[in-house]
Amino acid sequence: MNKLPSYKLNPDLTVCRILNGMWQVAGGHGYIDHEKAVEDMIKYHNSGFTTWDLADIYGPAEDLIGEFRRRLLKLRGKEELDQIQALTKWVPRPGKITRSTVIENIQKSLNRMNVSSIDLLQFHWWDYNNPYYMDALKYLTDLRDNGIIKNIGLTNFDTVRVQIIMDADLPIVSNQIQYSIIDRRPEVKMIPFCQKHDISLLAYGSLCGGLMSDRYLEREKPSAAELDTLSLRKYYQMIEAWGGWNLFQELLSNLKAAAQKHKVSIANIATRYILDSPAVAGVIIGTRLGIVDHRASNEKVFNLKLDRSDLDAIDAVCKKSNNLYEKIGDCGDEYR
Ligand SMILES: NC(=O)c1ccc[n+]([C@@H]2O[C@H](COP(=O)([O-])OP(=O)(O)OC[C@H]3O[C@@H](n4cnc5c(N)ncnc54)[C@H](OP(=O)(O)O)[C@@H]3O)[C@@H](O)[C@H]2O)c1
Repeated sequence: MNKLPSYKLNPDLTVCRILNGMWQVAGGHGYIDHEKAVEDMIKYHNSGFTTWDLADIYGPAEDLIGEFRRRLLKLRGKEELDQIQALTKWVPRPGKITRSTVIENIQKSLNRMNVSSIDLLQFHWWDYNNPYYMDALKYLTDLRDNGIIKNIGLTNFDTVRVQIIMDADLPIVSNQIQYSIIDRRPEVKMIPFCQKHDISLLAYGSLCGGLMSDRYLEREKPSAAELDTLSLRKYYQMIEAWGGWNLFQELLSNLKAAAQKHKVSIANIATRYILDSPAVAGVIIGTRLGIVDHRASNEKVFNLKLDRSDLDAIDAVCKKSNNLYEKIGDCGDEYR
């Protein structure tokens, strides 16, 4: 198996610095053939992209992990399964959370993923006015103490709540948040906080669903019909809030100049930029398994080093944009 750069989130969890995002199998991103998807998962694994980001709510994602593990066991034996990292999420509906609700839901994920313990369970909560998230995290901590969950992470939590959770001595190792060249909200509070408290960040949206790539350079504003995946639609909104399509084209043009200089792609520059930020353990790149394969391109990120002039050219455009922290709020506030 190919070895790619990794990051130690905790002594028992080391992840590839580019993670395979599985939201794209949940619907709204083209038809996913499960057989082809599992075949692709084996290819990703063999290329060194061994870390998967999924969720209980991402359609068949947890089942695909289960099938992938069964297939890999047959092909390569039991020891190879230790090379996989499958990071899932628990996204409950806000309401009273009891110990048995937590056990029941985590057990479902264990069964679907065909694992005896979860590498990283990332917890999402829709409504801070509903205080049961602290109960949920306490019960998850009990499961961690029993070895059913190896590590607990958060997703889309803001800095104020991460502080509250840390003050309660709950053992959080990571927060998964939107972070890209255009969405710099984490730089305001989250990154300094995580650096101080030794929490790692897992970034998503760093390619804006594919909009931050050569494919959209020198293109007219895409029509609603052209934004044909859920992620393209999600991040197009972000571009509008950030400064609009014309400013985005200016950014793509500067990214292209850097890409040409380093003989890589716009997507590679965008990924590297976020990977180099403090506290960032990895960038999650969405994978449309069985449809498109960007492995060869994404591997180039690891041999890329951005220089001062690349960073200045990027920052020069970003200075003209709106301040998304002021407009939307801290990490995760777009969901609330
Ligand atoms: N916690 C949360 O709330 C949350 C929210 C969103 C996402 N996520 C996680 O983050 C993952 C990332 O998803 P995202 O929606 O943010 O999308 P993204 O990673 O910003 O974009 C993914 C898309 O970028 C394109 N792409 C990938 N590599 C490329 C390359 N080298 N060159 C050109 N284009 C490339 C592909 O488009 P094509 O397939 O069209 O080629 C791919 O589908 C998700 O799967 C999920 O695991 C989490």
